[in-house]
Amino acid sequence: LTIKETLMTKKDCLVIAHRGASKYKPENTLLAYDLALKIGVDYLELDVQLTKDQVPVVYHDSDLSKKTDIKGSIQDYTYEEIKNLDVGKWFGEEYRGTKLVNFETVLRLYGNQFNYFLEIKNPTDGIEQIIFNLFEKYRIDLTNHRVVIQSFDQNCLLKVREMDANIPINQLILKKTEEEMPYSLTEISTYAEGLGINQSNVNEQLLSEANRIGLKIYPYTVNDSEKMQQFIDMGVTGIISDCPDLVKSLNLN
Ligand code: G3P
Ligand code: CA
Repeated sequence: LTIKETLMTKKDCLVIAHRGASKYKPENTLLAYDLALKIGVDYLELDVQLTKDQVPVVYHDSDLSKKTDIKGSIQDYTYEEIKNLDVGKWFGEEYRGTKLVNFETVLRLYGNQFNYFLEIKNPTDGIEQIIFNLFEKYRIDLTNHRVVIQSFDQNCLLKVREMDANIPINQLILKKTEEEMPYSLTEISTYAEGLGINQSNVNEQLLSEANRIGLKIYPYTVNDSEKMQQFIDMGVTGIISDCPDLVKSLNLN
């Protein structure tokens, strides 16, 4: 089934590789992406941020010191300064020397071999247009739900919606407690077609409300097979996982 057919028939739960197949390889690296491609996932999820000189790179954390030898954030450095940053060593000595990935390299190497769940992380001015220019340069197919844009930042998503009236958008929500959602599902449904939400907040009530207003639900980050099965049975649209091979194998049952 194509992505579009799956979305229409809801036969399968979409398999979304979180930062690549990041349980097995260092996240957001070509190694993790290559493995996701080999597994055969429905989407590659990746985090795009701009360097100080506005080069989009794939990196998750705001704080570089957690997983690299330098301090600060991606925005504090020019691309030239961080292009050789080691982003693999933290994961295991055998990955020492794995370099930070330029987002343009992802599009050049994989092009339309992947469907993308692209998260705009820590949005800085102009990132939306820079990403769309690269889609154009590498002739990325934006039809048929092949690219979904997501962000925790609502303003960024509204900009994307202004730039492209049709591209699927997911609002991401971090909601660790039972406190109020930052936005209501009804508000989200005015500009987005999906909601990416921490798995601990996904329950029958949320799903039935989302279903009623036609909002798709994508729990993150689900790595436990029992949980995956529960979410598949509950009818979530897709599962964002570090081990997409597991989601895929459950789908086949
Ligand atoms: O795809 C959603 C998920 O990636 C959001 O959380 O922190 O892993 O980017 P995070
Ligand atoms: Ca992400």
